[in-house]
Amino acid sequence: MSGKLVVVSNRIPTGAPSSGGLVVALHDALTRSGGVWVGAHPDQDAGDPESLTEIASGDYDRLAFHLSEDDYENYYLGFANSVLWPLCHGRVDLVEISRAYEAAYLGVNARVARLLAPRIGPDDMVWIHDYHFLPLAVELRRLGVTARIGFFLHIPFPPLSALSTLPTPGDFAAWLSAFDLVGLQTRRDTAACLEMFRADPRAEFMTDGTVKFHDRTVSVRSFPIGIDADSFAEAARAPDPEAELGVDTGADLVIGVDRLDYSKGLPNRFRAFGAFLDGRAGSDAPRASLLQIAPPTRERVAAYRAIRTELEEISGRLNGAHSELDWTPIRYIHRGVERSTLARLYRRARACLVTSLADGMNLVAKEYVAAQDPENPGVLILSRFAGAAEDMTEALLVNPYDIDEMAAAIETALTMPIEERRRRHAHSLRVVRDTHVTRWAQSVLGCLATCPPTLSLRATP
Ligand code: ADP
Ligand code: F6P
Repeated sequence: MSGKLVVVSNRIPTGAPSSGGLVVALHDALTRSGGVWVGAHPDQDAGDPESLTEIASGDYDRLAFHLSEDDYENYYLGFANSVLWPLCHGRVDLVEISRAYEAAYLGVNARVARLLAPRIGPDDMVWIHDYHFLPLAVELRRLGVTARIGFFLHIPFPPLSALSTLPTPGDFAAWLSAFDLVGLQTRRDTAACLEMFRADPRAEFMTDGTVKFHDRTVSVRSFPIGIDADSFAEAARAPDPEAELGVDTGADLVIGVDRLDYSKGLPNRFRAFGAFLDGRAGSDAPRASLLQIAPPTRERVAAYRAIRTELEEISGRLNGAHSELDWTPIRYIHRGVERSTLARLYRRARACLVTSLADGMNLVAKEYVAAQDPENPGVLILSRFAGAAEDMTEALLVNPYDIDEMAAAIETALTMPIEERRRRHAHSLRVVRDTHVTRWAQSVLGCLATCPPTLSLRATP
């Protein structure tokens, strides 16, 4: 690459880049090639609305754009997380159509484009992440930016029927057509994106598989994201977790780790654990405890407050029914934990529950597999609606709407013979290794550098 790499995501690392696959991957890519990472200022209302603020530097620059209280409310909590997030996660019933949300979303994208455009040269590569910035390439093209611009959507691509709930359903296709490359998590997402273009009379399919849209062409491909399995496994092997972690001894540990998001299927997971406990009542099977780590997220959105209340009610009821003096079946921790601690907890857990109703990839599934002892691995119970299920076919795949099936899967996981556990784990580990986060970043950027050039560099209407 002759120019620099410019990465844009709403969230930007503020300290050492240690948490989350996205941050690690982009940090690695930027460290190798140099460049700049642009994101929302971590402190609300900080910085200047009309300039980018340098927040840290090292191998690459980090620049932050200002978000006012109004932007936060209407762009981030509003259009991004009360329109696009539910739309992409199959919760059209939660979509809140609001002109104020839409105006703020377009306004923030236009302002970020204005601040960025003067910093982008024709040989640079721009890599934009996630649903916060769908219209950003349109705005950059409007300002004359000719550099290659790639997009990666970390969440599921919505079905055509869901897109029609947007005030202007055709916007999605027009926004995406201003990118040179649209990267998605799964083959299913790619099919949904191509279905959207197929249904749009402005789009034409070229023989090389690209989509021509007005005077531009865009390539659409899946690039399943992953983690750095080796360094995660190393953290998981660190000694003496039990004393430090204080987790119950004498009970089989089942773990869940998720932001407290309605897309993660947590109420059904708890209900399934309750049904599993019911199924074991009166038997002499060993005790099992569910440790659920669920830090709060986007709590100013009503649907997120509602899910918290619902979960507290279910876990309280189940613990009331099943606890004994020396045993609490569900432990529910409402905050984040250190990554190293998390890695060791995964290794100690006999099973991990990933029960998303919809999920772009789900890195927790990959982290759990990476953290296991290959000689005595735990079992991953994985929703077939998580992107990870497309390739991790030897996990115990479940329908997260089916409580009884999930309860049976917990029983199966905790009683699975060692040979079967090893066989399933070896397959899942191969998938995790094949999608190493560094390779993921390299293949997206390699593809962006070589994907067919646009037909014209004129602005998209
Ligand atoms: P999403 O991007 O929707 O939050 P993923 O499963 O893809 O879901 O990624 C979540 C990331 O956040 C994982 O790397 C996971 O380890 C981390 N994470 C989630 N909950 C916690 C927590 N309570 N403490 C620490 N890390 C967490
Ligand atoms: O992976 C999807 C995603 O929405 C990322 O874009 C985001 O950084 C992460 O989940 C956590 O969400 P938020 O940044 O809203 O806390």
